[in-house]
Amino acid sequence: MTTPLPIIIDTDPGQDDALAILLALASPEFEILGITAVAGNVPLALTEKNVRKICELAKRTDIKVFAGCSRPMLRKLVTAEYVHGKTGLDGPDLPEPTMPLQSQHAVDFIVETIMSRPEKTVALCTLGPLTNIGMALAREPRIAGRIKQIVSMGGGFFEGGNITPAAEFNIYVDPHAARLVCEAGIPLTLVPLDATHQALTSAKRIERFRKMPNRSGPACAALLEYFERFDEQKYGTDGGPLHDPCVMAWLLKPELFVSRYVNLAIECESELTMGMTLVDWWGMTKRPANATVCRSVDAEGLYALLSERIAKLP
Ligand code: BDR
Ligand code: CA
Repeated sequence: MTTPLPIIIDTDPGQDDALAILLALASPEFEILGITAVAGNVPLALTEKNVRKICELAKRTDIKVFAGCSRPMLRKLVTAEYVHGKTGLDGPDLPEPTMPLQSQHAVDFIVETIMSRPEKTVALCTLGPLTNIGMALAREPRIAGRIKQIVSMGGGFFEGGNITPAAEFNIYVDPHAARLVCEAGIPLTLVPLDATHQALTSAKRIERFRKMPNRSGPACAALLEYFERFDEQKYGTDGGPLHDPCVMAWLLKPELFVSRYVNLAIECESELTMGMTLVDWWGMTKRPANATVCRSVDAEGLYALLSERIAKLP
């Protein structure tokens, strides 16, 4: 077996974040150095707690969990309880966590880890607004040249946005942090709504989780059932899009995705299109390519990977 890839997961759980974290915990291809929480779907006090709930569900109390930024760099925090419920993890009945939260700030942990580990060995998987990463770059710009890669769920181009007609939630919440990340020269893969909107939960896919003889499978079914109801109503589809696990899936099985290396720019000026991800898919500008942007995902392959891995958890 090849050596596992050291990763830091930055997240704002969120039911789909929960499945992404569980997929990572179940994958021996990863060495999880830490999980950093950020404000996003719900406020920070809940996202950090939710990360610990998920680790405890998978019986991984050894994982180091850090709390990061409680608000975006410049703008006011926007949350999404209308999608994820009051706790951010509505659906299953998960007990209050007892494992500790690390005392170090997430931004310090990110900077210290990237600076102390060998150059270009650590990958960042981001599942929420990019505030922690933007702040880490502002605090220690030298991390940019030392990060192996960032794989980020965010944006939407052909598909448009999901919080405004132009913007996807993660980028909209902290567009300034997203712009810093996008312009830092770090190898970046963006998994936008164009791909994640193809990864629909369906009654059949949820049933596969419910029937698992472990406790993580049925918990995933309960998370997904709660999570899908909002987007099912909005888009009139059977099931809702499962965004964040696509980040881990890209690292585990890139062949599931169609992508292109293109120029990506983030809109931070116009309030009308704030947080829009402008993707030069057709090479119309002379701006140099700076990101691999996914356009589609093999949904059957993604759910097969998820079921295979979640079945291995407690
Ligand atoms: C993204 O926003 C959040 O609601 C989800 O967890 C996902 O990261 C999708 O736009
Ligand atoms: Ca998320």
